[in-house]
Amino acid sequence: MRNFLSDTIFKRIIREEQVGSTNDLAMSLLDSDEEGDFVVLADSQTSGRGRRGRTWHSPPGENIYMSLAIRPNVRLSRATILTFLTGVAVCNGLRACTGLDMNLKWPNDIIFNKRKIGGILIETRVDRDVVHAAVVGIGVNVNSGRAGFPREIKDSATSLSIETGLTYERDEIVLSVLKEFDSLFCNALKRDTTGTETYIDGSVARKLVRKWRERDITLGNSVSVVTSAETISGRAVDIDEMCRLKVLTDDGHERLIHSGDVTLRI
Ligand code: BTN
Repeated sequence: MRNFLSDTIFKRIIREEQVGSTNDLAMSLLDSDEEGDFVVLADSQTSGRGRRGRTWHSPPGENIYMSLAIRPNVRLSRATILTFLTGVAVCNGLRACTGLDMNLKWPNDIIFNKRKIGGILIETRVDRDVVHAAVVGIGVNVNSGRAGFPREIKDSATSLSIETGLTYERDEIVLSVLKEFDSLFCNALKRDTTGTETYIDGSVARKLVRKWRERDITLGNSVSVVTSAETISGRAVDIDEMCRLKVLTDDGHERLIHSGDVTLRI
């Protein structure tokens, strides 16, 4: 791992047997002024978290739970592209390592065979509209069997092993995903000519959105989107350059949604 790291932005990987949440550990290290960029990797989590306060199933010995701690120093309004960058990196990394092609589901799900195989949870520290610290949490179900999934996710979740009958080397997948993330991130992040401000390159961002769109299973489908304020029903027609989902509602209005949970309606 050490040799590999020297070619990336990541200075070290902190490995733990068990943590509450790799995101929490990574953020507390960043908060206590630990220099970015590093990775926290755990064999299990006792309080693994998903979006909207959901629990992330995190048993030992089976899956990947990791958090990439970075200091992007980009404007908050452009930071949502980090989720898309991570989604594309996870898909590329998994394909390089397993030959399998994943799908994505707006805004943060990794999907295989219509079931959820992984998720992304990005948490940030923002000061004067600039994201000075970000933790990119990635969970991938690798070797879990269906019997071990909690009842609530038994029908909607899957793992690489369930899908192929094979057992996978988790470290290989971790390195493959880190390599992809590093290359996309270095390509996307630019410094202005004075060297004082960092920004996300517009054309790279547009390319990442295109890549996400190609894999997104919501587009063209009838969906229900639960946001913090309402439930919107209609057809998902596009994802725009600000990473918003465009829905043509059942009563004929166009809505641009920043964040929410999407269910496909059959
Ligand atoms: C989601 O789909 O809702 C996001 C799931 C993110 C899970 C990962 S596992 C590693 C990191 N630590 C956490 O507590 N959550 C993320």
